[in-house]
Amino acid sequence: MNLPGQGPDQQSNPSVAAAAGRSLDPHVQRYAARTAGMTASEIRALFAVASRPEVVSLAGGMPYLAALPMDSLATDVAELIATEGQQALQYGSAQGIPQLREQICEVMALEGISAHPDDVVVTVGSQSALDMVTRIFCDPGDVVLAEAPSYVGALGTFTAYQAEVVHVEIDDNGLIPSALSAALDAVRASGRRVKFLYTIPNFHNPGGVTLSAERRPEILRICAEHDVLVIEDNPYGLLGFDGQTYPALRASEPDNVVYLGSFSKTFAPGLRVGWALAPHAVREKLVLAAESATLCPPTITQAVVSRYLAAHDWKGQIKVYQQAYRERRDAMLTALEQHLPAGCTWTRPDGGFYVWLTVPEGLDTKAMLPRAVTQRVAYVPGTAFYGDGFGSRQMRLSFCYPTPERIREGVRRLATVLEGELELLRTFGTVTTRQLSGPQSPSPDTA
Ligand SMILES: Cc1ncc(COP(=O)(O)O)c(C=O)c1O
Repeated sequence: MNLPGQGPDQQSNPSVAAAAGRSLDPHVQRYAARTAGMTASEIRALFAVASRPEVVSLAGGMPYLAALPMDSLATDVAELIATEGQQALQYGSAQGIPQLREQICEVMALEGISAHPDDVVVTVGSQSALDMVTRIFCDPGDVVLAEAPSYVGALGTFTAYQAEVVHVEIDDNGLIPSALSAALDAVRASGRRVKFLYTIPNFHNPGGVTLSAERRPEILRICAEHDVLVIEDNPYGLLGFDGQTYPALRASEPDNVVYLGSFSKTFAPGLRVGWALAPHAVREKLVLAAESATLCPPTITQAVVSRYLAAHDWKGQIKVYQQAYRERRDAMLTALEQHLPAGCTWTRPDGGFYVWLTVPEGLDTKAMLPRAVTQRVAYVPGTAFYGDGFGSRQMRLSFCYPTPERIREGVRRLATVLEGELELLRTFGTVTTRQLSGPQSPSPDTA
């Protein structure tokens, strides 16, 4: 097992290797400057251990795919290839299959969006939409505003394009408007340029909170006043546990919002089908960026999604997911209440996949992770979700994948680890701490 500080990435970090007097691999010397921001976290190796069956992983954001009707999906895919194989296995348009773009407009209508299929670009998951949006807008040194904390995959993308992330505080009602105004003023005063606000308004990853309806117009007004584009990332919006939805930011501000959607959480992530809905000029650049990256999104998986939307009770399937996740959320919240030591606090999501936990002062969730994995429980330390080294007292707990029983067991184990850390703190006045670091990718399956 690699312990923190001994991970594989140390070898590919030129400054670490140089400081250690080691000669650099010639490939490393050829890397473009932007790769300096592409670093794998030293906790990656721990997640390899955490994927063993005896470990309860509360780390990964993997949907509960056992809830899907696999037999009828298998029949559908076989029939699709038998009857439409020549189109479904052919190259397609960079913008995506027209029929799917129409269906995507129907999906978005559930959150109050009225859109034309011409303004939709199908992407390889919403992750590739994020990559393309950043590629289009960000020059090195540009500032991107993001919630504190924010989605690890987005932070990795922003860093890869050498954008600087400035975090904006959130509370139980999501992004705080006054904090947003203050951040915009501060960046402007420092002479830098904010390119966009990246926000996850619904069932936040990793925060578990939702932007309140009252704050939505205010956030949009502040961004419009400061001439800042909004990137609304909404993969979880239809996963409210009571079937509730919130009006999309894009619904009331079509000209200043790029909306990102995905079938990863409401259907299946392995298909890699997401989309961007963008104002006309942005959409044109997105199509060109998509062409240069992939020529076109995979035709076969678009066709699978399109057929699924046309032939299956997809809204019923979303209800099945909502119920499964609500049951898991309840199991997690009840177990946290029962087992966690005093001084821990956490969010109470009404949708999505995640709880954001804050541990008592003096504890460090990243330093604690190897001991947690030894106790057969895993989580993602909070520092993964910040671009500036914060989050050492936080962790993200996912309730989407394990059964309620495993979740209860995982929380029991986590409580034991926390009790042990607190005991050390009481005895020695300190627990092993570590240097803060910038954004790193823990591993793809923790996204
Ligand atoms: C907030 C957020 N945005 C984007 C993504 C990427 O999703 P996709 O599978 O559509 O690429 C994720 C995945 O976990 C996510 O949580």
